[in-house]
Formats: sequence, C-alpha cells, structure tokens
Amino acid sequence: MIAFILNNKTIKTSEHSGMTLLDFVRYQQRLTGTKIGCREGDCGACTLLVGTLKGDTIEYQSITSCISPLGNAHGKHIVTVEGTNLKDKLTTVQVAMKANYATQCGFCTPGFVVALTGFALSNSDKNYSNAIDAISGNICRCTGYKAIEKAAHQVVEKLENKTETTFDWLIENQFIPEYFKSIPQRLKDIEAKDLNQPKGKYVSGGTDLYVQQADHLADNDVHLIAEKDYLKGVSIENRVCTIGTNATVSDLWNHTELNSILPNLRKHLKLVSSEQIRNMASLGGNLANASPIGDMTIFFLAFNSNITILNSEEKERTVALKNFYQGYKTYDLNDGELLKAISFNLPTEHSFFNFEKVCKRTHLDIASVNSAIHISVENETISKAHVSIGGVAAIPKYLHKTSAFLIGKPLTSETIIEANEMLQKEISPISDVRGTTDYKRLLGRQLFFAHFTTLFPKQFTLNDFVQHA
Ligand SMILES: Cc1cc2nc3c(=O)[nH]c(=O)nc-3n(C[C@H](O)[C@H](O)[C@H](O)COP(=O)(O)OP(=O)(O)OC[C@H]3O[C@@H](n4cnc5c(N)ncnc54)[C@H](O)[C@@H]3O)c2cc1C
Ligand code: FES
Ligand code: FES
Repeated sequence: MIAFILNNKTIKTSEHSGMTLLDFVRYQQRLTGTKIGCREGDCGACTLLVGTLKGDTIEYQSITSCISPLGNAHGKHIVTVEGTNLKDKLTTVQVAMKANYATQCGFCTPGFVVALTGFALSNSDKNYSNAIDAISGNICRCTGYKAIEKAAHQVVEKLENKTETTFDWLIENQFIPEYFKSIPQRLKDIEAKDLNQPKGKYVSGGTDLYVQQADHLADNDVHLIAEKDYLKGVSIENRVCTIGTNATVSDLWNHTELNSILPNLRKHLKLVSSEQIRNMASLGGNLANASPIGDMTIFFLAFNSNITILNSEEKERTVALKNFYQGYKTYDLNDGELLKAISFNLPTEHSFFNFEKVCKRTHLDIASVNSAIHISVENETISKAHVSIGGVAAIPKYLHKTSAFLIGKPLTSETIIEANEMLQKEISPISDVRGTTDYKRLLGRQLFFAHFTTLFPKQFTLNDFVQHA
C-alpha cells in the first residue's frame, strides 16, 4: 500500500507503484491543474512539489511528475497547484504572475506557480538568480519569458532576502495555505513502511527510464530504490569522498563541505538538466544509464573514481569506473547487481578539477560534447592527470593514453597541443543530431584547451593553443 499526503488529503492506494505520479494525480484524483505537455521531463507543465520529512521539518523540492513513479511518493507530501491555493484569494506567487501579465494561454502557468512556490519553501538564498534557477525546467510558449521573469522578481522582493522561510512566515505572507503546518506531524503518523517490492527493473529517480518506458513500467514490476538508506549519503574522510548512488545532483549541489572543496561545483552542476530534474536524477542512474554523454559519469571519470557494486547476496566488489564501460550501453554489472557507492580523492592544494559542456542551448540540454579533467601540478610539472570526454565514442570515455601522456610533462602550451593530438587519436565521434564528426572533434579540442585556460588563466590563453594546433 502506497501512503502519502496529497495536498491536504491522506492517500492510501494500492495502485501500481510504477504508474506515473502525473497520471495518478490527474486521472485518479481529478486534480487537472497539473498539465501534460511533453511527458519527457522537458517542459515543466506537470511540476509538483515533493516534501520529505527531515526530523521535525519538511524539505520541499520540485519535480516533473510525468517521469516520476507513484511509488516514489510513498511517505511524502505531494503538492499540486490546487494544494497551493488559498481559500478566497490569490497566493503571493499567483498575484505576481497576474500583476506582471506572466500568463497568456495559461497552459504552463500552474507549473510556474508550483515551481516558484517551491522556491519560496526551499532553503536556498532568496535571490533573483536562484528564483530563475527554480523555473529553469519550465517552458512557456506564449509570454516570451520577460513577464515571467518580472513575476519571479516580484516574488523575490517579497521574500526579502530571507535564507530560511518558516511555515508561519509563508502562511502569514500568503505563499501557502494554513494546512501546511499540520503536514510534518501527519507525515510522521503515516509511518510509511518500506514498500518492499524487490522485483523488476531498478528505478531510482526514473528520469531516464520514464522518458522511454513509462507505459511499460506502469504495467510491470518495478523495484524502487530511491529511498534505500544503504544507497544514500555523502561522506568525506581524509579527503576521500564517498557518495551513495542514490544521491541526486541536487544533493551534491546542497552539500556544504563538498562545495567548499570544489568551489565551482554549482557552476558545473548548473549545466546539468533543470532544477526539477536535478532533484530526481541520481548518480547511480546516470552511471547505469551508460549514456556516452552522461554528465555525472564524465565528471566522476575524471576523478578516477571507484564504484562499489553490491550483489543480491549482499557481497560487494569494487571496480574502477574507467574500466566499467565495455561497449555501447554495456558494462561490468551482472543481473541483480546494484551500484552502491562511488568514491574518489578530492583535489588537494596541488590538484585542480574542471568540467566543460557544450550543447545546443546552455540549460536543460544534453551535451554535444562534455569533458572533465583532474590534474596535479608540482614544480610546474604535471604529476597526475585524469581526463574524460563524452559524446565522441560509444562509451563515456576515460582518455587512458592522453592522461598517461600528460604525466611527467612540463605544464606548457607545447605539452597541451601534443596531448590534443593524442586525444584526437583516442576519440571516434560519429555524426548525429548532436553534431558532425568534424564538429565534435573540434569541440573535443576546444574543451580540452578550455580546461587549461580555465584552470591556469595567468599562464594560458586560447590563442596560445589555437594558433599552433
Ligand atoms: C529533461 C531531462 C534532462 C536531462 N538532462 C540531463 C543532463 O543535462 N545531463 C545528464 O547527464 N543527464 C540528463 N538527463 C538524464 C537523467 O536525468 C540522468 O541520467 C539521471 O542521472 C538518471 O538518474 P535516475 O535516478 O533518474 O535514473 P533512473 O531512470 O531511475 O535509472 C536509469 C538506469 O539506471 C539503472 N539504475 C538506477 N540506479 C541504479 C543503481 N543504483 N544500480 C544499478 N542500476 C541502477 C536503472 O535500472 C536504469 O536502467 C536528463 C533527463 C531528462 C528527462
Ligand atoms: S509533461 Fe512536460 S515535463 Fe512533464
Ligand atoms: S502562457 Fe501559454 S504556454 Fe505559457
């Protein structure tokens, strides 16, 4: 039995846990404010909030319900646009949308209202940039966005740069209805037990699987793993970071210590999908999806990470991520095995990390080519190097030869130009919708050079490389 609170109503349902939350909300509960646009996580029309109990409080995150399994709602507070409504007046977010003419046909509007309400409820700093991030997964076909941006601005002004917004403050200031205050206790009372459905396809966030297989998953067994505690958590000990594969991209975004060690982490993660998707997208899903352009896979390849794999008898084995992928979408994972954790050495004072990605548009797009590097430099000599690149081979590629070539060489433009020649021999891009072979080779080169101009800006400019390459 799946149990959760939908707006102000407790739900106990024996519906199939693999059906989408969107279909449950619209067709079982007749809450039709949540719209269906793309059914691929791309437009945000189906945005809902998911509240997770953390001690005595609740953390709310926005998600796209079209690619989220109903079973992942178990034990949570799910909020649709109807659940944000006040009794006989508009909410502060709705007022802002109306006052700025931010709605025309109105199809996208519930998604924007829910996402901006989620922003008000979140712990993120209440500035304009974060408000725009919160609606990065919402598409509008009518307004041209300026009016929506103005509405977001009005919401931010109302939030007065608050870092933490209490339910009391939000209720008083008409962001959310009164009943939100009762939710933490009511969620505790539900005592959601493990759904215990250990059969079928592993599903974590569902953001890869549901784009392709939503109908199939709605009719077949699904093994939901997003809430498994043994796959959760981020720990840092002696500069070794271990991350449970259920950690989402947002979990990394929100991790204070990791962000202090990797100061550009948020800049890099901002290039990964949209806030709604980052809230669901797990690292395990990214690794096991084995897409040649998986951003997190490219990221962790350059950290020369190890992955811990767990079998059905709870035995563990460890594999270097760079040896995990064998061919297009094939890898070293047996039936019933689960990716448990990923671990890697964090940068030291002599080592530097960078991630680059080029897509057709900056946000909410998959890469044409992406690349990462973790390089150690001591006495102007490269002592360690790990370079990865995506979109130029059948697998997310660790550049074994290029990485080995760099080690022991002086950090000069000549070394980098020569290393690019090695890189070009290691990659084998094909022409497809993301670009031609030549274009991807050019991107591979430019991103490789960009690592060095970004990490060592005083030493290199792009001209140092391009004129001679
Ligand atoms: C709109 C949209 C935008 C996106 N943008 C990006 C982007 O910019 N960059 C990017 O890299 N990706 C992007 N993605 C893809 C996707 O979000 C990521 O790959 C995500 O990390 C997948 O995680 P998940 O938890 O949703 O995976 P799921 O869909 O739950 O699972 C994916 C696969 O992994 C398997 N799996 C999951 N967890 C484990 C585990 N622990 N052990 C073994 N197998 C497991 C599942 O069985 C399945 O085969 C996007 C997707 C959408 C819908
Ligand atoms: S319907 Fe478009 S994101 Fe869900
Ligand atoms: S108002 Fe029409 S899609 Fe946004």
